[in-house]
Amino acid sequence: MSVVANTGNGKITVPELLQRKSLAADSSKKIISLTAYDYPTARLADEAGVEVILVGDSLAMVVLGHESTLPVTVEEMLHHTRAVRRGTRRALVVADMPYGSYHAGIDESVRNAVRFVKEGGAEAVKVEGGERRLELIARLTEAEIPVMGHVGLTPQSVNALGGYRVQGKTTDAAERLLRDARAVEAAGAFAVVLEAVPRELAAQITRDLRIPTIGIGAGPDCDGQILVLHDLLGLTLSSTPKFARQYANVGEVISKAMREYCEDVRSGGFPSDAESYHSGQPAKPQKPVHVAC
Ligand code: KIV
Repeated sequence: MSVVANTGNGKITVPELLQRKSLAADSSKKIISLTAYDYPTARLADEAGVEVILVGDSLAMVVLGHESTLPVTVEEMLHHTRAVRRGTRRALVVADMPYGSYHAGIDESVRNAVRFVKEGGAEAVKVEGGERRLELIARLTEAEIPVMGHVGLTPQSVNALGGYRVQGKTTDAAERLLRDARAVEAAGAFAVVLEAVPRELAAQITRDLRIPTIGIGAGPDCDGQILVLHDLLGLTLSSTPKFARQYANVGEVISKAMREYCEDVRSGGFPSDAESYHSGQPAKPQKPVHVAC
């Protein structure tokens, strides 16, 4: 029997991700997730086999240059969610609800979440927080919006937490975190991100829950893993957390290409004659430039 409950075209769906929970002890069945913020990176992630693309509010820091995730707005998140949607065929697209968009009452939160589905093309939303989000997650689920929870280090709570720190290290804190994860599940979320928690606790939560856990800085025993794209690529221009593995140095590649371009223009080496048009020659139809086919 197939374990894949998808639409028949390989599209990753929420029911499939729920089914993967029981398989994730086998590391080849782990859920692979990555953030993306625009059309080309979404398309590359999708084609590389990433299964869940999160339009993370980390956008605020790694793309927009803010010092925390707090300033990013619903409009900005929608703009990037639409671009990611256009680049994605197979992966499930999850939009992160930004700070402030689900903190001023349940009705307004549901309206904002609906915008991510209707205007952004998201297939699910993510909200940070555990027990205190019980009612919200239940209402979103009731409104047919699949919800991914996020507990542990929740960057939108940076001011309340007093910084970005590993969570759940004491017995009390670990028990609170377990309660948070259980609340997210009980409210109807289909998955939960565990960020910056000891691997032993993440393993215990993973065993305890029926929904998949997606770890970031939570060790290898979660049902899936997620990374911030710019950390993976070496494009985060500030310090990165201990858990972020850098797979490339794209920042250096971009910087080298830009320096070479500057030098070529200054030395007269760019553009060459081959890169120039000539008068008096019949015009050949041109491929539209900078339009993906
Ligand atoms: O915004 C983000 O990138 C996230 C991930 C770290 C899970 O929430």
